Amino acid sequence: MRVLLSDGAGLTAGQCATVLSRAGHEVEALSPDPLCLCRFTRRVRRVHGVPGIGTDPLGWLDAALGVAARGRADVLLPVQEQVAVMSLCRERITGAGVLTAVPDFAALAQVQDKVSAFRTLARFGLPQPPGAVVTSAAGLLAAAEPPLYAKAPIGTASAGIRYISAPAELRQLAASWPWDATSMLIQQPARGPLAMIQSVFAHGELAAFHVCMRVREGTGGGASHKLGIALPAARESVATLGTALGWHGALSADVIVTDTGPLFIDINPRLVEPVNALRSGVDLTAAMLQVAGCGSAEPQPAGTPGARTHQLLLAILGAAQHGGQRRDVVRELRHALTRTADYRDSTEELTPAWSLPVVAATLATLVSPPAWRHFADAPRAYSLTPAAWQQLLDRAEKDGQLQPSRRVREDDL
Ligand SMILES: Nc1ncnc2c1ncn2[C@@H]1O[C@H](COP(=O)(O)OP(=O)(O)O)[C@@H](O)[C@H]1O
Ligand SMILES: [Mg+2]
Repeated sequence: MRVLLSDGAGLTAGQCATVLSRAGHEVEALSPDPLCLCRFTRRVRRVHGVPGIGTDPLGWLDAALGVAARGRADVLLPVQEQVAVMSLCRERITGAGVLTAVPDFAALAQVQDKVSAFRTLARFGLPQPPGAVVTSAAGLLAAAEPPLYAKAPIGTASAGIRYISAPAELRQLAASWPWDATSMLIQQPARGPLAMIQSVFAHGELAAFHVCMRVREGTGGGASHKLGIALPAARESVATLGTALGWHGALSADVIVTDTGPLFIDINPRLVEPVNALRSGVDLTAAMLQVAGCGSAEPQPAGTPGARTHQLLLAILGAAQHGGQRRDVVRELRHALTRTADYRDSTEELTPAWSLPVVAATLATLVSPPAWRHFADAPRAYSLTPAAWQQLLDRAEKDGQLQPSRRVREDDL
């Protein structure tokens, strides 16, 4: 198949390109950034320039459909936050003869922003840390005692997340009101390791499911090292959520695995980094292509726990960020090159392992560890901004895909 990836900058795009091209598909990608990750792998035949969805989501769609028509793409595969505009305009995509797998916009809107996701999880009884929605500085100060996480409704790769450890920080945050956001989710920290859940649904039916543990954090909350695990309680919860929302396409989540079970802290209405799942025996991208092709998918087998995978790029940047010294970057490199420590029996998720961005990040952080920031900030080109999300919500209300907006209030919790 000719598969056009909605994004070419993110790690998910890079991993999907690897998996799909190995499976024999022809892969191209879209990105506003001509020097994005997918530009440096021969698994992607071409990267096409498009507007960023953060500034112009509908312009992105027009450009994407233009590229798909010219290149006669069979499938436009959502691999990042473009899923939001693709979901809103699904009929335009399929009307253009291009296959895709996206949820209804009304379903997507229930989990796309963190405030809506918090309420949706509560409505369907999924376990999550205690939290509250606040809409004013006074509400924020009254909501909870630190430590807590303050989460803006829209923000990816930890862009809208603040960890508040002391009352003074909370007062500081309240003093900076009003924020861009009209509301904010305040959530108690949960104790335990973070696990990433990945699933694919076809019209509300679970077709593929995988969980991996974040063994080590890279930058932006991402995992530089993962371990595939079994987490039956999470499977049940995700199946409940997907069925209740009639989910179609990929649905991912972050959970904290506490002593009393997994607590959901983040829902991502899209595919996330599929290689650990594939190494565990669960082919998320194949399931997505089946759902795109015929609206259903043969159920994928349950994953075999124990698969270890890593992304050197994130590990190097993470060493520079968390260690902060050149020797931390050198140690990481030594472990990777000698396949020791966290690299023993572990497979690289991105190919080629030493692509130009990896080499550049390594050299830059060896010269100056704070350079990690430059590389970690790069993926923002694919992020949905609050303004872009509002534009999509307004459009959905006009089209009749959403009820006229219910303004978020503190008292309707
Ligand atoms: N309630 C929580 N308890 C513990 N850790 C949390 C909690 N909320 C967020 N985190 C940490 O912050 C990171 C980012 O939060 P998340 O809600 O996943 O936002 P995003 O991935 O959209 O930036 C998580 O990966 C996790 O490490
Ligand atoms: Mg997250």
